[in-house]
Amino acid sequence: MTVRLGDTAPDFTAETTEGTIHFHEWLGDSWGILFSHPKDFTPVCTTELGAFAKAKGEFDKRNTKLIGLSVDSVESHNGWAGDIAETQGQPLNFPLIGDEGHQVADLYDMIHPNANDTLTVRSVFIIGPDKKVKLTLTYPASTGRNVDEVIRVLDSLQLTADYQVSTPVNWVDGGDVIIAPAIPDDEAKTRFPKGFKTLKPYLRITPQPNK
Ligand code: BEZ
Repeated sequence: MTVRLGDTAPDFTAETTEGTIHFHEWLGDSWGILFSHPKDFTPVCTTELGAFAKAKGEFDKRNTKLIGLSVDSVESHNGWAGDIAETQGQPLNFPLIGDEGHQVADLYDMIHPNANDTLTVRSVFIIGPDKKVKLTLTYPASTGRNVDEVIRVLDSLQLTADYQVSTPVNWVDGGDVIIAPAIPDDEAKTRFPKGFKTLKPYLRITPQPNK
């Protein structure tokens, strides 16, 4: 099944390293990040899981729960967790789904047969508190993800959910943002009291409104 932006994130029940999880119930009112790993005991995945675990405090601050997936058993994940703690200096601190039967991988179209017909690609799904998919990313097995980039897009998604702005190229939290073109200048003056610069009628820049 293809999961696209704006779709309701498919619900599932799965065994994880933290017990059985009913996905939507587990998400509750939080944002969520579901990300897949091609296989247990693989080098890039080991570094990714250590790095996401180290950054968990940043995700907590953003009311965001992390959940990983790999197409091996929970028993295997538990063995791998020891290697992650040993080599990355950080134990796993979020659940890892055991998906030997590819139930969740198929639900989220994480196996791309022309890349590999048994292992998942490196998918990232960011899910809002309304359970809608806000962002999808797909990396090949050979390229590890960038935790800072995932946090950056999460910041953008949370900002643009609350304010009628969008974030420009290479934006990072605290940078200037773009006022939605649909907002007339009069309204923009009250919505954005810090003021704005009009470079073109469709390109108006204002300081980040929640800073
Ligand atoms: C890795 O995590 O290093 C990896 C996983 C599957 C295939 C290739 C590399």
